[in-house]
Amino acid sequence: MGAMRVSNKILDGLIKQANRELASSSAYLSMSLWFADREFPGSAKWCRTHADEERGHGLKIFDHITKRRAKGALILPQAAQKFDFENPVDVWKFALENETANSTAIQALFKQSRDEGDYTTENFMQWYLNEQLEEEAAISDILENAKRVLKTNGLYVTFDSQIVAKPH
Ligand SMILES: [Fe+2]
Repeated sequence: MGAMRVSNKILDGLIKQANRELASSSAYLSMSLWFADREFPGSAKWCRTHADEERGHGLKIFDHITKRRAKGALILPQAAQKFDFENPVDVWKFALENETANSTAIQALFKQSRDEGDYTTENFMQWYLNEQLEEEAAISDILENAKRVLKTNGLYVTFDSQIVAKPH
C-alpha cells in the first residue's frame, strides 16, 4: 500500500497522541509555575524548556498527519490542572508518572501500527519510543537526586541551580 495511506484507527491514535503531548506540555508549564512560586528558578526553567519540547512533539505529529493528507486532526479540550504538591520530590514523581503513562500510550500505538502493517506509522513512532527513554531517564535522574536532597536534609535550592544544565 502507499506510504501516505492511514487507517481511521491509526489516525485517531495519532490525533490522541498529539493531544497527549500538548497536555503534557501544559503539565510541565504548571510544574514550572509551581517551582517559580517557590523561588526555584533552575527547576522552573527546566520545566519551561521541557514544556516547549512537548509542544514540539505534538506539532510534529500534526505535521505528519498533514503530510499524509489525512483529515480530521483537531485540538481536544484539556482537563483543568490543579496541583497541590507538598515538595519538589512530589513534582518530579508526578512528572515521571506522566512520562510512564505517555510511554505506554506510544507503545500501544506502535503495536497497533505493526499489527495493521502500517510501517510508515511504525517507523514514525520509533522516534517517540526513543525519546521516551531519554525523558524517563532524565527525570528519574532528577527525581533520585531530589529524593536524596530531601532525605539528607540538604537544601533543594543548591541542587536547583544544577538542574538547568541537566538533559531533557
Ligand atoms: Fe515527555
